[in-house]
Formats: sequence, C-alpha cells, structure tokens
Amino acid sequence: MAEESPTTPSPAAAPAPVSMDTLVALCKRRGFVFPSSEIYGGLNGFFDYGPLGSELRRNIRNAWWEDMVHRRDDIVGLDCSIISHPKVWEASGHIAGFTDPMVDCKESKQRFRADQLFFAPVVVQPRKIRDTVETTLPSEGESPTLIENKIELIFGPSTVIGYVSALESENTLGELTSKAQELKRKLGVQGEMLNLVMSDFTQVKPEEVEKIPSPATGKPGSLTPPRDFNLMFSTHVGAVRDDSSVAYLRPETAQGMFFNFKNVVDTTRVKLPFGVAQIGRSFRNEITPRNFIFRSREFEQMEMEYFIHPTADWQKEHRDWIEWCKRWLVSIGLPAAQLSEYDHPKEKLAFYSRGTTDIMFNYPFGVQELWGIAARGDYDLQQHVKFSGKTLEYFDESTKQKVVPHVIEPAVGVDRIFLAVLCSAYYEDEVEGEKRVVLRLHPRLAPVKVGVFPLVKNKPELLARAEALYRRLKKRWNVFWDIGGAIGRRYRRMDEIGTPFCVTVDFETIEKDGTVTLRDRDTTKQVRLSEDELVAELARRIDGE
Ligand code: GAP
Repeated sequence: MAEESPTTPSPAAAPAPVSMDTLVALCKRRGFVFPSSEIYGGLNGFFDYGPLGSELRRNIRNAWWEDMVHRRDDIVGLDCSIISHPKVWEASGHIAGFTDPMVDCKESKQRFRADQLFFAPVVVQPRKIRDTVETTLPSEGESPTLIENKIELIFGPSTVIGYVSALESENTLGELTSKAQELKRKLGVQGEMLNLVMSDFTQVKPEEVEKIPSPATGKPGSLTPPRDFNLMFSTHVGAVRDDSSVAYLRPETAQGMFFNFKNVVDTTRVKLPFGVAQIGRSFRNEITPRNFIFRSREFEQMEMEYFIHPTADWQKEHRDWIEWCKRWLVSIGLPAAQLSEYDHPKEKLAFYSRGTTDIMFNYPFGVQELWGIAARGDYDLQQHVKFSGKTLEYFDESTKQKVVPHVIEPAVGVDRIFLAVLCSAYYEDEVEGEKRVVLRLHPRLAPVKVGVFPLVKNKPELLARAEALYRRLKKRWNVFWDIGGAIGRRYRRMDEIGTPFCVTVDFETIEKDGTVTLRDRDTTKQVRLSEDELVAELARRIDGE
C-alpha cells in the first residue's frame, strides 16, 4: 500500500458537493475529458481523454498496478487481446446471459433499459356531493320538519385515469407525481389522487404496455414490451462475413485470467493463494450510457482474480479483499466518509456467485457502484474445462492433490475511479480575498506534479536558471513551465488542474543564496529551499521516498 502523502486531503473531510455540470465543464475547459469525435457531434457513450485526463488516467492505472502487482509477492500481471475465441463467451455465459431487458420507443426510435424506465398508474377517487335532509322525529299527529340541509362527502370507487412514465433520476417519484397532477388537470378529473405506486418496466403487465406513455414523446402506444438485449459488441474476424466469423469485443477483462490459468501456472512459480491482474479496455453496448464517464460503452477495467484453495475460508478472503480495496481508495485520496458497502442480496446474486459486495461512492448523482468484489467459486475455471476439454488444475504440494481453485475477484473501472477522484478533489475556496477553484488531487495522481515559474521573463540570468531547474525536474516528473502573467494567476491555473507544487525562481535565487520558493497547493504556504533540498522534498511528497 502506498505511503500517504502530507498533501493528501483529510479522508474524513467531505468536500462540498459539486454538480456534474460544473465538473463536466471543468473537464472540457482544462482538457481532462472531451466527448469522443466531438467535431462530428460526438458518439453517445464514448469519450476521449485530453492531455490532462490521459495523465490522470495513467496515474490511476500505475498506482493500482504498483500496489496490486509490483508491491506484492503473490500477484502477477497479464495483458490479453481484446478479441478472443468466441467459445470463451459461450463458456463464460455471456452469449446466453449477458443481457439487459430493453424497451424501444417505436416513434422516437429511442431505447431504454427496462429497469431504468419507471411508470405508475394514476388512480383517482372521485368525491360525490349529496344533500341530505336531517329531520327531527315528529310527535304523534305532526308532519316531519326539515331542520337543516347538510352536505355529505361520499367516496366512490377509485379509477385509473391513465399512466405516467419517467426515466430513473435523482427524484423519479417526484417527476412521476408532477406528471400525474398534470394529467389529472388536463383530463379535468375531480377527486383525490391516491399516492403513486411506481414500478419499473421489468414488472410491466402485458395489458399495461400500450397504455404507458413513452418518456421520449409523452404519448402512449409506442413502447414495446421489454426484451433481452445482448450487451456484447460483435464483429467479424477475417474476410468472410458469416456466422462462422463472428467474434466479440470483450465485455470484461476477467476471462483472460481464467483461460490463461494453465499458462500462468506453467510459466511462473506462483503458489496458492495467488492472483492474476489485468488492466484493459472493455466494451459493452450499454442501452443507456449515462452520467458522463460513469457508464460508457468503452471503458477500462482493472481486474484481479485471486485464486484460493477450494477448502480455504472464502468468506475471510472476500472480506480481506473488500478491506484492501477500501484502504487503497483512501490511500489515493478518496474520503472514507464518501465510501460505503452494498451486499448483493442472496436471491439476486449471479448464479455463479457465492457473495458479491460493491464498494459504493457518493457521486453527485447518487450513491453508486465503484468497485465490485465477488466470490465466484470455481465456476469460471470449470466452465472453461467443460468447453475447451482441457484441464485447468493446480497441483497442491502439501496434499499431493490436483485441485481446481476457487476465486475472489475485485473488479473496478478506471473511469469510475477517475470520476470519484475528481468529485472528491473539487473545492472552491478563497485565497487572499480571491475565489479559486482547486483540485486537491493526491500528488501521486496529479497530472502535473510541479509548475516551474521564473518570476520575470525579462531577466536572462533568472530565466536560464529557472529553465535549467525545469529541465532537471522534468527528467523525473511531469512538470509544467509557465512564464505568462502575474505569479498569482499562474498559481491559480495550476490549482485548477490539481498541481500540488509550484516552484518560483526569483531575484533572491540569482542574487542571494540560490534558493527557490516551493508553494503548497492546499495550504498556499511557501518555503525557501536550495535546489537539492527541493528535489529531495518533492521526492518525499510525490513518491513517498
Ligand atoms: N468481471 C466482473 C465484472 O466485469 P462488473 O460489475 O460488470 O463486473 C466491474 O464490472 C467494474 O467495471 C464495475 O464495478 C465498474 O467499476 C466498471 N464498469 C462496469 N461497467 C461499466 C461501464 N459501462 N462504464 C464504466 N465502468 C464500468
């Protein structure tokens, strides 16, 4: 596990919530993330990472690889091809079962995930108003007397006056309720509207489908019943385009670790328990990519399969990995207070899973899955044994027996960490009476580690000294050179992209003792150091040396 840097924001301190609009705008303005192929209008569910975004992504990947593989003795790495033999996906169950229920709007041609499309019948209980006559009982020989007219409310039978629908949002029920009130007003129906009971489209009854309005057009009659849609992207390998040449872009990196199990065991000296890790692109034709880079169609996974003896205590191993993953997230700067756990209920577990726990992050659009840790038993290895006809065993020296190991799998998306990191690093504060935006990124992740500034640009000796220092630091870290504008503005520009340190070469450097100033992004405090002291201090705070 990486050393925590002194500039790591306190994990307990939750940043002020930042809106997605603010983050997306920052990402575009400063070159973190762009819509993919933007000059052609972008492509839904695909993103391009800009000069700063590609650095941040690389730093996340490197931190994970260093801690997961290099700094451990029991885990090795792999880098598999994106397209593999199509039988892999038969064996893994993805061809038959990697589907989401989907609903089409025939009119708008939009497609929705059934579990994200909500609807509710609008039920109204009409009020009937009746005049009643109350009488006093007449005495013998007298006629009845009307003494009072009263109005009595009588509730008639409730009726469904129509349906409303909405896509899942932070306030789906609120949205449905205002649509229901609008419907009642439009139809001029009198009476009490009962509380809405909302369901998603996976629970729709066949007779309801026609009556539910499409969220795209607001009109009923154009939605299809839900049907299963396979999320894998397919292609053809080779010149012939027929059924025999169909192949798939991988929807997860995990299978590479299973079908290479024997290769790893035969070529390394791993001993149970051991892990195999991989970082790489995965592709899913998500029906509704959404929330910026949170759910996209091309993304990057960091997965590790930890093979354990079939008789090992899998619950303990599972818990240990959940704890490892949480510690790791905190070590790269995510506040512990923003993390939580979600245990998949037993009845909803994938059929191969013995237990799955997700580490959740409090994103601006709600608490959502960041990292899934699954106990998968020996399902995957056994499936590949069955479909390939090859043995995938491990010879256990202690018992002199061949075993098929079980597996614990922590699987996380780089892009989801990227988004969580930006959300929790974003702060707005004031420095010397001026507002600033600051990304309090962990130095290990910051795209630019140091900004180097000559105080003035019209003094050749000072400029040369600053440039020499810049070149020296650049040999080791990603360093930015800036000679434009007042020094305060240069600091602000670095603050906004999360550069943890700025170094200024000033008159004292060349006229007095050769020292430069080192400014800390978070405290904005400055200290004077010699160049050698500066390099040592930066190494300590960036690399934990
Ligand atoms: N091998 C198991 C597996 O792939 P998953 O929960 O489907 O499990 C693992 O994916 C992680 O990959 C998720 O926790 C998430 O971080 C990331 N991920 C999955 N689908 C994604 C998508 N469409 N866009 C971005 N990240 C995604």
